[in-house]
Amino acid sequence: MSTFRILLTPGDGIGPEVIEEAMKVLGRVQQAFGHEFQFQEETIGGAAIDEYGIALRPETVAAAKKSDAVLFGAVGGPKWDDPKAAARPEDAILGMRKQLGLFANLRPVRVHPLMIADSTLKPEVLEGTDMVVIRELTGGLYFGKPKKRWENAQGRQGVDTLRYSEKEIERILRVGFELARTRRKKLTSVDKANVLRTGQLWREIADEVAKDYPDVTIEHQLVDATAMNLLRNPAGYDVIVTENMFGDIITDEAAMLAGSMGMMPSASLGRRRKDGTGIGLYEPIHGSAPDIAGQKKANPLAMILSSAMMLRLSLGLEPEAEAVERAVDAALNDGYRTPDIGGGEGLEVVDTAKMGTLVSERLEKGG
Ligand code: IPM
Ligand code: MG
Repeated sequence: MSTFRILLTPGDGIGPEVIEEAMKVLGRVQQAFGHEFQFQEETIGGAAIDEYGIALRPETVAAAKKSDAVLFGAVGGPKWDDPKAAARPEDAILGMRKQLGLFANLRPVRVHPLMIADSTLKPEVLEGTDMVVIRELTGGLYFGKPKKRWENAQGRQGVDTLRYSEKEIERILRVGFELARTRRKKLTSVDKANVLRTGQLWREIADEVAKDYPDVTIEHQLVDATAMNLLRNPAGYDVIVTENMFGDIITDEAAMLAGSMGMMPSASLGRRRKDGTGIGLYEPIHGSAPDIAGQKKANPLAMILSSAMMLRLSLGLEPEAEAVERAVDAALNDGYRTPDIGGGEGLEVVDTAKMGTLVSERLEKGG
């Protein structure tokens, strides 16, 4: 029996509701496969601001560092929305990424055949869409210095800094090439090399790293063209690699291809051990959704699918991860839907807890 330590940070809004359902499914995984998951819980985000005055306590970071993985719910809500407040819920996620060194954010976008009608795009455009966007997560505009606001005779001023080192660019591209190797062997490197110096450096390094991966086809694309092509021909992408801010924007766009954000998991990874595993933070990309919090409407599938990514990428439990993904598919195939992925003939709309139960009941060990 293997033992793993998992830190739970439910956070705000629907975060705690969806974490509870992921726990249900992981409970079944423990039983079915004979593992022991030791869960520890920490308060983060707005909830931590209320309780401790800060969104991410050093104790929480220390607990995360001692864990094999972090399951992260969501942070934020109208109560803490004042942009001038000293402590902001978002500090929790940004702090976790930076302090745990989680530089690679993987956001898979697959259009489930049963859900193709839920997208705003035409089915024939979506057909075959299956990509992973890899977003650099600890550099660029989010963290570059100087980063500040001030006032002078000309009025109010502000600055953020877009800065990347050779090392930062190289390591994220390698994550992309390694992943592309296990997929359709196509990598799209997204930059703004026609305007930005960091973009030129990015492209130069992408070409250098590409030499180590002759089996992978590399294509360079300007980020504005990517924004367009994601809607025109999403199935043309396999692995996309891009810097932090561009990745933030295009992953929201890409998520909408799948119809609902309620289905989209993500993994944030740092340095890997030799066997490919290592600490990671796993979160649904939908956020805290304060408008539906407490109403039992949240779709727990993104959180459950994020926990499958955790099983695979941090715990090295591939068959367990596949079992969870199959159980999610089985619940959908059986016609169950949460409100966000809507009703329709022959479909039954269920609440958050019911969906979690349906998935956990379908978890089976066999392949
Ligand atoms: C995301 C979110 C975060 C980001 C926010 C909550 C700080 O939009 O994970 O994409 O901008 O990275
Ligand atoms: Mg975002």
